[in-house]
Amino acid sequence: MARKATNKLLQKAKESKSDEFYTQLSDIESELQHYKGHFKDKVVFCNCDDPRISNFFNYFASNFKELGLKKLIASCYRKQERNLFNTEKFENGFFYEYSGAKDEKIKPNSNGIIHFKGDGDFRSAESINLLKQSDIVVTNPPFSLFREYVDQLVKYDKKFLIIGNINAITYKEIFKIIKGNKAWLGINLGRGISGFIVPEHYELYGTEARIDNLGNRIVSPNNCLWLTNLDTSKRHEDITLTKRYFGNEIEYFHYDNYHGINVDKTQNIPLDYSDAMGVPITFLHKYNPEQFEIIKFRKGDDEKDLSISGKCPYFRILVKNKRIQKNEKMNQIPRSKLINKMKLEVRLKRNIDKIIMN
Ligand SMILES: C[S@@+](CC[C@H](N)C(=O)[O-])C[C@H]1O[C@@H](n2cnc3c(N)ncnc32)[C@H](O)[C@@H]1O
Repeated sequence: MARKATNKLLQKAKESKSDEFYTQLSDIESELQHYKGHFKDKVVFCNCDDPRISNFFNYFASNFKELGLKKLIASCYRKQERNLFNTEKFENGFFYEYSGAKDEKIKPNSNGIIHFKGDGDFRSAESINLLKQSDIVVTNPPFSLFREYVDQLVKYDKKFLIIGNINAITYKEIFKIIKGNKAWLGINLGRGISGFIVPEHYELYGTEARIDNLGNRIVSPNNCLWLTNLDTSKRHEDITLTKRYFGNEIEYFHYDNYHGINVDKTQNIPLDYSDAMGVPITFLHKYNPEQFEIIKFRKGDDEKDLSISGKCPYFRILVKNKRIQKNEKMNQIPRSKLINKMKLEVRLKRNIDKIIMN
């Protein structure tokens, strides 16, 4: 099989494996503490959650009063396994509604559970009907269906706070909504999400796997993020910039196929550069739309990957600093300096090419 196809299959397998990552209560608490003001009088829907085991359901039911919730709904998907060899009657998906009444049990019992006619897929008419009645969706959806999942939330104009893989930023559909300021990254990212509970059959290996004191099997992929359209104060904080471009031009290479400079780390974004800068995708974790404008992802003017001396470093997001002050701008690009700088860069590129060739 061609290597590309094998890689695709491996990626697919990896994605559906993480469909069985269950979120820990501590990670939910750690993120949700930043959004408390959003939930008053709201209906929360966890639409990929078995209410009997989901920590999302557990969190919202336990904090129902404190958050001032109106209603909590959790729905559970049941994969339909019927085939030629397995003709047994399959179990339908189901949902549970919690309204915080005095005599209502937080732990759902079988009396309170309502069965769907179908499997409870988040895309099914039955689940969408619940979605329409809800204000905010909070969950960790199946990673392999992430694009479709977000697309549906946007289509129904819902508020959301969901977990996804960091790679999701690079999907053009997801990048588009981030660029359009319709969603942004939450507070915790990468190692900030401590790990997921995995089923018995999931093999534990490496240093990022453990069994916790409750006997849960935990893996920490350290590659997840929260994606949301609920506002946070962090999103309005400027990134502190300390570096300067002018005087340190040698540290910032220009792209071959876009008028802009490459910046390897968010902390190295210069405070005095007003044109486009290519920054790493982790920039989005610190992004304040009042300070920066997102222009484009990954591609140069020729719609090929951004390159420096013919090499494509990493995926970059092209951004512009909106806050360059007038006097900073006036300092920019005296012609003689620019010509010297370009000569220097050409020499430098030649040297790098020589080193690579050797
Ligand atoms: C990553 S797990 C997370 C489970 C739970 N939300 C949590 O955070 O603990 C994704 C869940 O989505 C469920 N699921 C898979 N496909 C689904 C679908 N099409 N519709 C709804 N749920 C689905 C899986 O059964 C699994 O329980």
